[in-house]
Amino acid sequence: WSATAHKTDGVLHVGGLPIPDLIAGVNTPAYVLDEDDFRGRARAFRDGFDGYDVYYAGKAFLCTAVARWIAEEGLCLDVCSNGELSVALRADFPIERIGYHGNNKTQIELRRAIVAGVGRIIVDSFDEVERVAAITAETGLTARVMVRVTAGVEAHTHEYIATAHEDQKFGFSISSGDAFDAVRRLRDAPGVELRGLHSHIGSQIFDSAGFEVAARRVLALHGRVRDELGLEMPEMDLGGGFGIAYTTQDDPSTPKQLADELTGIVEHECRALGLAVPHLSVEPGRAIVGPSMCTVYTVGTVKEVALDGGARRTYVSVDGGMSDNIRTALYDADYSATLAGRASDAAPVLGRVVGKHCEAGDIVVKDEFLPGDIRPGDLVAVPATGAYCRSMASNYNHALRPPVVAVRDGRSRVLVRRETEDDLLATDMGA
Ligand code: LLP
Repeated sequence: WSATAHKTDGVLHVGGLPIPDLIAGVNTPAYVLDEDDFRGRARAFRDGFDGYDVYYAGKAFLCTAVARWIAEEGLCLDVCSNGELSVALRADFPIERIGYHGNNKTQIELRRAIVAGVGRIIVDSFDEVERVAAITAETGLTARVMVRVTAGVEAHTHEYIATAHEDQKFGFSISSGDAFDAVRRLRDAPGVELRGLHSHIGSQIFDSAGFEVAARRVLALHGRVRDELGLEMPEMDLGGGFGIAYTTQDDPSTPKQLADELTGIVEHECRALGLAVPHLSVEPGRAIVGPSMCTVYTVGTVKEVALDGGARRTYVSVDGGMSDNIRTALYDADYSATLAGRASDAAPVLGRVVGKHCEAGDIVVKDEFLPGDIRPGDLVAVPATGAYCRSMASNYNHALRPPVVAVRDGRSRVLVRRETEDDLLATDMGA
């Protein structure tokens, strides 16, 4: 749960507000964002990663207010689409603190980013090398770039599989020599300032072994570029992917612990290679916004089914589902749920929180013990839904994407309103 969440007499409070009061104004489903918690996590990364640039990965969740908070807390911002850049520009985010990602940026998107003056573009293909060079030649502007490299490491939650990960769409392979070629071409491109290499090994990572292998390979390439091209690239980005606790079983490190570990790995490798330690950056998304938000639903129906072997499961259908949280269906993700609007002494039953979409896989929380007297009208809160839930929300079954309500010091503010049927029908050109 977020820093300011607690239950009093069974009623969940976030940011000093009882959830039932908060919901009365906006209805359900709704995402509730604890602003102090969000800012605290952003600051913990900024302070823990002292000396680094910390880019908040806006793909996890972005809106104008959040971009503003990130700017106020002194972080940088990673955007990976034209739309995310538009939000950042609308928030007057300091343009030189924006990094622009993506494996298929168009000429138009790149031109817009370069003309706007983004701090760095993370180049991901030879086509993009050509596009950037054409734009700098045409405009006379300088583009600061990083090269996204594939270190051949696939990091999962508790494991990493070395070499297994060349076969994917991002970055230039180090082992094939493409990454070196990209560096050489960018070094030779007029109007291009090559800052360094970027590697992102995956998401929801708890084990630093994957980072260690990646850093070793990326720094080896820094060394090769110095030796063969006479160029010491001044920067290196280790990407994001720091894991969070979705359920009580996960135990993530603090930003300070992560930073100490990563710095130690990089310094050790640099010493071995005789390289100066580059200026480092990271790109956490989930670890900042994930735990700061919960989703509040209203229970609509309760149904008990018999399982093989005689056990029973209570299906609790809520007024949202895979359209506001696709992660359970898509990644088999684990979440928890709690009754948010009242106390209950009823014995717990094995429950499953499901949505209202036309699919059996429309599951929000696979397994959770819920009070046996749970009934229609009850409020249910699902914690840790800040990352990749609203940002991956859809209009499946013509669902209206829910609002995001920020809470702070007992006051709430709608950051993103609920979609309306007019919003939905606006793109339908009629019969
Ligand atoms: N940097 C780059 C280049 C990335 O591709 C990503 C995430 C991040 C940073 C931030 O990663 P984070 O710290 O948030 O894990 N939709 C999936 C996650 C996809 C992540 C895509 N890239 C999910 O819901 O788990």
